[in-house]
Amino acid sequence: MSSQQTAARLRDVFALAPVIPVITIEDAGQAVPLARALVKGGLRVVEITLRTQAGLDAARAIMAEVPEAVVGIGTVLTPADYERAAELGAAFAISPGMSVELLDAAKAGALPFAPGIQTASDLMACVTRGFELVKFFPAVPAGGLAAIDALAGPFPNARFCPTGGINAGNAAQWLAHKKVLAIGGSWVAPAADIKAGNWTLIEQRAREAAALRPA
Ligand code: 3PG
Repeated sequence: MSSQQTAARLRDVFALAPVIPVITIEDAGQAVPLARALVKGGLRVVEITLRTQAGLDAARAIMAEVPEAVVGIGTVLTPADYERAAELGAAFAISPGMSVELLDAAKAGALPFAPGIQTASDLMACVTRGFELVKFFPAVPAGGLAAIDALAGPFPNARFCPTGGINAGNAAQWLAHKKVLAIGGSWVAPAADIKAGNWTLIEQRAREAAALRPA
């Protein structure tokens, strides 16, 4: 598959839902009810992070039992992480940052990949390798919407999925920006609510997030 095709697939995934819950899960047994709550609320795309041991098993369980969910693997830090996500059959991989090794591995692979950027230098490394759809992390501490405006000057084709500091209070502002394809964050399904099994609350937050930009 060409890098244009994988880029197009990533755009298609990001068009499915305006908000991508970033999930940190300790117990893979909670993955399926969590994903059902998110999907029921209207958010189909999820980022399951590799921050915990349970991450890969959680992603596997959702892929097996919640077919409406579109599962991406997050906190992809190394080429080995990227390979693990690809072997799992995830829909995409996403990273809080970028390294040349990771970009080269993803460029050679078939799994759509969104590298993370914070600076013009990061973005330069990405766009010169064909990665124009990037995560902007940590979005609020790294300059907020003003930083996206500034980066859009030298990189007019770049499109962003900001995460980090986004919540129900500021999400609409981020989504209104024309360079922002989707946003991500942990506010829809924080680790504490997952641990407590607060599925109704998570579903309600998902419904509110999905309504920010109806499909
Ligand atoms: C991420 O990995 O994208 C962030 O940790 C999400 O940031 P948040 O917890 O501030 O939403």
